[in-house]
Amino acid sequence: MNFYKELDFINLDEIQKEALKLIPDSNTKNLMGLFYFASVPEYLKIDKLRQYLEIVNELNNVLLIGTLFTAPNVKGNLHRDNGPHIFSLNIPLLNCHNTFIEFFKTNSIPQKTKFKNSDQGTYSKFDPEECQLIFRKEVQNPYIINTLVPHRVVNENNKTRIMLCIRLSRSNNLKIRS
Ligand SMILES: [Fe+2]
Repeated sequence: MNFYKELDFINLDEIQKEALKLIPDSNTKNLMGLFYFASVPEYLKIDKLRQYLEIVNELNNVLLIGTLFTAPNVKGNLHRDNGPHIFSLNIPLLNCHNTFIEFFKTNSIPQKTKFKNSDQGTYSKFDPEECQLIFRKEVQNPYIINTLVPHRVVNENNKTRIMLCIRLSRSNNLKIRS
């Protein structure tokens, strides 16, 4: 598989604890979307996170770091990211059990769509009716994905899921789908 890879990790508990401290309380309520509320250097002050990125050989590829909130019992938009990143290294922070990442194949043309809550740019949205599921995995460990492959998050948990998303220009762990 060349669009998803689970990563072994160490010190996940400490990374989760420190990353959650960077989230302002006001951002946790029923929000859906990306919030880059802290700068990359601020995240990288989390020693264990910086060390982790060094260990998996991705530190030099980091473009942005943000937190994705997915509301309870929702399917996110089926989409492809529009960059500038190509890969995302995602680290589960809270309520990630019973939540899933799904990948699809399709020949349909996506619709360029702005993020609802922010000025975070655009994504390319697909009609689920025109896509075929090719892979689905429960989120338990950190993983890297190629965000050019159509995908979505499904939250079957009754709590808001919080995921740390580290956007990468390239990946030393996952090659671009050819
Ligand atoms: Fe995405």
